[in-house]
Amino acid sequence: MRLLMLFVLLSGYTLSAKINLQNTTCKRCHPIIYKEYYNSLHRKASLYEDPVHDAVWQKHPLKKKQNYTCKKCHTPSDTELMQQKTVPSDTPVQREEPISCIYCHSIESIEQHPKANQNILHEQKGERPTLYSADKARRGEKITFKEERGFMGLSTKVTGSPYHDIDLGNKIWYSGEVCLGCHDHKQNAAHFNVCEIGLKKGDTKHTCISCHMPQVQGSATTIKETRTHAYHGIGTLHGIKEVMKWLKIDMQKDQQGFSVTLHNQSNHTLFMHPLRMARLLVTIYRNGKALPQPSQTLQRVIGKAGKPSSPWLADSVVKNSTLKADERKSYRYDMPLQKGDIVEVAIGYYRVNPKAAKMLGIANTPATKMEIVKKQRFQE
Ligand code: HEC
Ligand code: HEC
Ligand code: HEC
Ligand code: HEC
Ligand code: HEC
Repeated sequence: MRLLMLFVLLSGYTLSAKINLQNTTCKRCHPIIYKEYYNSLHRKASLYEDPVHDAVWQKHPLKKKQNYTCKKCHTPSDTELMQQKTVPSDTPVQREEPISCIYCHSIESIEQHPKANQNILHEQKGERPTLYSADKARRGEKITFKEERGFMGLSTKVTGSPYHDIDLGNKIWYSGEVCLGCHDHKQNAAHFNVCEIGLKKGDTKHTCISCHMPQVQGSATTIKETRTHAYHGIGTLHGIKEVMKWLKIDMQKDQQGFSVTLHNQSNHTLFMHPLRMARLLVTIYRNGKALPQPSQTLQRVIGKAGKPSSPWLADSVVKNSTLKADERKSYRYDMPLQKGDIVEVAIGYYRVNPKAAKMLGIANTPATKMEIVKKQRFQE
């Protein structure tokens, strides 16, 4: 039975296109990871699956020129589109795997450029693709598929995957640099950084991967049982404590009132994307009554001549109330607290800030609704 199954698997491999392995192939042996990925923003990065991306594109001057330069980061797996200066059409790649499993797992190095960095992919040749990954316990190992027959061929020991080789020796997969081809920065035509991650270098304790892809319950493969696997549902962790624990909330009380302190313990700016906005919401509960306090905004507003503008026209930062990597910021409330008061501090998150949502014609849609991503109570 075991041998038969392997035979079927192997012949399946030779029948399929050699290198261009699609996500549905990976799904067969990595179903949990596939499912998480399916709900991630990486799977939904194309115009057809992301209404926010589409709304910006509809207004972008490059649309008139039919030059979808966004593909470099939003749909790099669409190899046909990558070779042409045109706009995407509604294809399965755009919908199912704009940033595919094999794309990410082929990133060999990152080239630095002022406009935007560039992912350099491993040239996949030979019978099986070589996939990069990271595993501290086996760092440096190269794993190729092996079948060893035991006594009289009665048992078979299988190492590796029949579909791909694995290289656990690439340092950018341990430092998190693998994410920075797309996430470091992006300039517009005015050579202005529309978006920049503001990375604090030298923090080796935590990486993009350890914070955003923590180990969660469930096996990484069906073939070789593991207790946990690296979480692949990136972009759906807002409000889940694994990621939000790195944004610390504290409260200090004095005679005249109190201060709320936010400490960004991540190694990058929060919240860096020009569409994003967060709101610090403070409410005092006194004798069963809610007393809302003035809210604070965390946002990087970009524009021109001191006024907010669309990202393609912006040449400067107009206002910046974001939190830099490792920054602590205190917000003052001149409201003396009484015994029994409860102070509730919440972080409200907008994927698209209300002004931009209105301008883009996507106000009051699920994508633009404020979401509470963290809430903490302090009792007097
Ligand atoms: C026939 C089953 C099978 C298919 C199909 C398959 N894999 Fe695997 N994969 C495995 C097995 C088994 C392992 C574990 C190998 C080991 O550790 O010895 C593995 C390991 C991996 C690892 C490395 C895990 C680590 O140690 O960090 C990655 C990454 C990976 N697979 C990605 C993919 C991608 C991407 C695809 C689709 C292109 C794919 N796999 C298709 C069976 C499969
Ligand atoms: C250098 C890589 C890169 C390029 C090129 C790029 N983007 Fe992005 N884009 C990203 C990354 C990374 C994110 C996620 C960043 C974040 O959330 O902080 C993103 C997010 C977005 C979002 C927010 C999506 C959401 O779901 O909320 C919009 C809108 C967007 N990009 C529009 C565009 C448009 C339009 C273009 C082309 C004109 C483009 N981008 C080109 C990397 C890029
Ligand atoms: C090929 C380019 C690319 C690579 C490589 C990449 N990302 Fe992304 N990432 C994107 C794009 C584009 C988006 C936004 C998609 C959208 O919403 O349209 C995104 C979204 C995200 C988000 C959600 C942002 C938000 O505002 O909620 C997180 C978190 C993220 N990526 C982390 C990572 C990490 C960690 C890695 C490395 C393991 C990584 N990304 C690698 C392109 C990339
Ligand atoms: C110490 C933990 C930590 C590390 C390291 C870390 N992040 Fe984050 N990151 C966070 C937290 C907390 C948030 C805010 C919660 C959220 O948006 O999911 C966040 C948010 C983000 C967002 C969405 C930001 C936005 O504009 O809304 C992106 C994109 C992102 N991180 C990418 C990365 C990348 C790429 C790296 C590696 C260079 C990285 N992160 C390293 C903790 C971390
Ligand atoms: C945005 C880039 C990105 C995409 C897309 C991506 N992965 Fe990964 N994957 C990673 C990173 C980074 C790691 C290493 C995690 C670590 O170091 O813990 C990883 C680890 C893995 C592992 C080993 C997990 C473990 O904990 O042992 C497997 C298996 C895997 N990926 C399969 C897949 C499959 C299947 C898909 C598509 C459904 C996929 N990956 C899509 C970046 C990606």
